[in-house]
Amino acid sequence: MKHYDVIVIGGGPAGYVAAIRCAQQGLKTACIDSGVNDKGEASPGGTCLNVGCIPSKALLESSGLFERCQHDTAVHGIKISKVTLDLAILMQRKQQVVNDLTSGVNALIKINGIDLYTGLGKLLAENKVEVTLTHKNTKTRNATKEEITATDIILAPGSVPRAIDNIPYTDDKIVDSTAALSFDKVPKRLAIIGAGIIGLELGSVWRRLGAEVTLFEASKDFLPAVDQAIAKQACKIFTQQGLTFSFACQIKSTEIKNNKVIINYTQADKENSETFDKVFVAVGRSPNTKNVFDPASRLICDEYGFIKVDEQCRTNLAHVYAIGDAVRGPMLAHKGEEEGAMVADLIAGHFARVNYETIPFVVYTEPEIAWCGKTEQQLKSDNIDYKIGTFSFASNGRARAMGQTQGLIKTLADAKTDRILGVHMFGSHASELISQAVVAMEFNSSSEDLAMTMFAHPSLSEVFHESAMDVLDRAIHKAKAKKI
Ligand code: FAD
Ligand code: NAI
Repeated sequence: MKHYDVIVIGGGPAGYVAAIRCAQQGLKTACIDSGVNDKGEASPGGTCLNVGCIPSKALLESSGLFERCQHDTAVHGIKISKVTLDLAILMQRKQQVVNDLTSGVNALIKINGIDLYTGLGKLLAENKVEVTLTHKNTKTRNATKEEITATDIILAPGSVPRAIDNIPYTDDKIVDSTAALSFDKVPKRLAIIGAGIIGLELGSVWRRLGAEVTLFEASKDFLPAVDQAIAKQACKIFTQQGLTFSFACQIKSTEIKNNKVIINYTQADKENSETFDKVFVAVGRSPNTKNVFDPASRLICDEYGFIKVDEQCRTNLAHVYAIGDAVRGPMLAHKGEEEGAMVADLIAGHFARVNYETIPFVVYTEPEIAWCGKTEQQLKSDNIDYKIGTFSFASNGRARAMGQTQGLIKTLADAKTDRILGVHMFGSHASELISQAVVAMEFNSSSEDLAMTMFAHPSLSEVFHESAMDVLDRAIHKAKAKKI
């Protein structure tokens, strides 16, 4: 039986990062991943690279360009007479981006000397895994099932789209996010159940490409985890862009008639029905843990199926760790990657930790929403005294030059110590700007530290600089700021 120092089950961003970091430290490492592309070849990278972060961002880029070409060039004196869409080419580009990145991960796995098993891994015991090989190139190995052992095992099986009981998926009318990344034509009327992150990002994509998009949301509030002042402004702007929101609604059933989908729902005690060409469900994701361990292994999961772990991702079994979407915490690629690197360092005998207080969150709409640390709502409920600084993109020279003037940045700092407690952004390129806040918070900066730091001019980063200066009433380009 083949023995490794470490076996990683799952080759998504959590698993492949863990495997690479183990190999970098001289540990003999195997990674088992079930992902294959349509040619049956290994396609590591998990949800993120294959059907998540990357294809969705490729579609956001293309659809954004399509929209800008139609509406934003005339003001620059650039006249484009007719903008047309070739959806097949747009989708091919998206797939090429995915293929390039999954091949890149494949190459990194090889370069680092990791044995990649394409198939399903199942934890049998604390140090034993069963592999069911599915990849066509595994013919060279004799068996379709084999058992391998390791001193340490890392479980990273990720997550899958959550379904709603009363809304069964169909082949092409009622679908999940994976299918919504690959529609072969723009639906005239598209319904999205769930106005969360996926609903907003893919809803923006299909709206920009020409669909009428309605989002049905169970909650009465828009993005409750986001700073509510920013969420309100964002909801208003997304509505102006053409997204239709239906809050506090309960989906009762769906019917398929004449090649259309009828959604029956209640809202404010009234029964309603609306007809759509397609429906896509985006009501969250569930941990993909059903088949990753044998009950005889005695691995413990919680009531929702997440593998139970401590702060350092240790499970109840000695030498078995679990990371990424399959464990508690936000389902984000970078959170999984950090956990993967931490666990690899722990196995290699080093000190390691993840700072869960500084996880950045981004919604890749236009403008983008991004945040890190506590919201005002949280600080109030934790009875923490805080100071606020805000600055709008409209007052920034670079934002004006770019014609991207919507939104603001809000910096929250401790009233006594001035330490930054949270940063909330709504604006162009917020996904890039938020990293400055993460670095500042990771180094325990005060708003004064940021105020005294030099930022390039003209740049959108100056919006963050001025919001930190505004905490101390020192913002320069703001009419109401008091000088101290
Ligand atoms: P996964 O990426 O799900 O990878 C798990 C891998 O393990 C998969 O390849 C799976 O096939 C494999 N596997 C499962 N069980 C087994 C088994 N028994 N044996 C072998 N292999 C197995 N996050 C962000 O941070 N930013 C974004 O912009 C973003 N956009 C997203 C957009 C969409 C549409 C979706 C759906 C998700 C998005 N996410 C985003 C979330 C992100 O994709 C996940 O948080 C991330 O992929 C989780 O990484 P993971 O390694 O834990 O799991
Ligand atoms: P989500 O949790 O962001 O949003 C789901 C939404 O559906 C919520 O607003 C919820 O109230 C609503 N909902 C739940 N049940 C409902 C029902 N029966 N009817 C109507 N509405 C209902 O989940 P989403 O959008 O599916 O994304 C899953 C995860 O993937 C995210 O939580 C995030 O972790 C990750 N992701 C991250 C991205 C990023 O970082 N930019 C992009 C896309 C996904």
